[in-house]
Amino acid sequence: ADLDLPQIRDHLITLAHRAGTMITTAHPTTGTSGSKKNTADLVTETDRAVETMISTSLRASYPTFAFMGEETYAPGDTLTASPTFIVDPIDGTTNFVHGYPYVSISLGLAVEKVPVVGVVYNPFTRQLYSAVKGEGAYLHDTDGEGRTRLPLRNPTPLSLANALVAVEWGSDRHGNDLAVKSDTFRRLCATREEGGGMVHGLRSFGSAALNLCAVASGSIDAYWEAGCWAWDVCAGWVVLREAGGVMVDANPGNWEPRVEERRYLAVRAGEGQRGFVEEFWSKVEGRFEVG
Ligand code: IPD
Repeated sequence: ADLDLPQIRDHLITLAHRAGTMITTAHPTTGTSGSKKNTADLVTETDRAVETMISTSLRASYPTFAFMGEETYAPGDTLTASPTFIVDPIDGTTNFVHGYPYVSISLGLAVEKVPVVGVVYNPFTRQLYSAVKGEGAYLHDTDGEGRTRLPLRNPTPLSLANALVAVEWGSDRHGNDLAVKSDTFRRLCATREEGGGMVHGLRSFGSAALNLCAVASGSIDAYWEAGCWAWDVCAGWVVLREAGGVMVDANPGNWEPRVEERRYLAVRAGEGQRGFVEEFWSKVEGRFEVG
C-alpha cells in the first residue's frame, strides 16, 4: 500500500515537540553524563528516555516498520529496504550537556534505503524543519501556525572562495581520519597562492542534523563530515534535498552515497553545484576509512 508520508511527517512533528519538552526540562551536566566509545562520545539519561518514548510510539502506530535509533543500535545492524524510522533522540549531546543551545531531535524515515521524510527540531530555539519527498522543505513558525519554504535566501551562484563551510571534528579522534580532517580544514582555509580554498570561514556547531538544515536554508554553503551515522543525517538529508541541495561523499568521487556511508558533503542549492563539489573535493587531503 502507498505510505501516507505527510501523515507520518505530522506524527513525527508531534513526537519532536514531546521530545523537546523532555530535553529542555532536563538539566544534564558534564559530571552526570556517561560516555560510550570514548570520553568524548557522550550519552545521557535523556538520550535514552527520548529514544524509548519515540520508538514506543512509532512501533505502536507503525507496527510493520523497522526502527533504527542511536541508543539501541548494535554493531552489525543494517538498514533494509523496508520502511525504517532512523532516529537520533539528541543530535548534539555534547552541546546538550554543556548547555550550548544547538541541539536537535532528528526523526527520519527511509524507504528502499532512501530518506523520504525528515523532521529536525531544536527545542531551545524552537526551530522546526520538515520535509517530505517531492513536497519541498520548510521551516515552521515557532507558534506552529505557518511555515516558510526553504531555502530562506535566494540562492547565489556557488563558489568555494565565497563559502561559509560547516565541518565537525566528531568524537572519533584517531589515526588517519583525524589527519584527513585537520589537513583538509587547513587546505580549505589556506590562501589560493598556497593551493588552498581561501573560504570565508569554517564553523563547527556540533549537530549534524542542524548543519544539514543550515545548508538547506542557504545560510551555510556546505557541510563536510566523516564519522557520523545514518541517524545523524537521514532526516536532514530529506530537508536538504527538498531545498535543492545535494549530498555527495566526503571522499572525492562518489556522487551517490548510501544513507549509511558515514562520509558526507552537503551542498546548498545554487548555480554551479557540480563545479563547487569538484573544487571542494580537490581540497580533500587523503581518504577516510570509516566503516
Ligand atoms: C554527533 C553530532 C556531531 C557530529 C558527530 C555526531 P550525537 O551526534 O552530530 O555534530 O560531529 O559525528 O555523532 O552523538 O550528538 O548524536
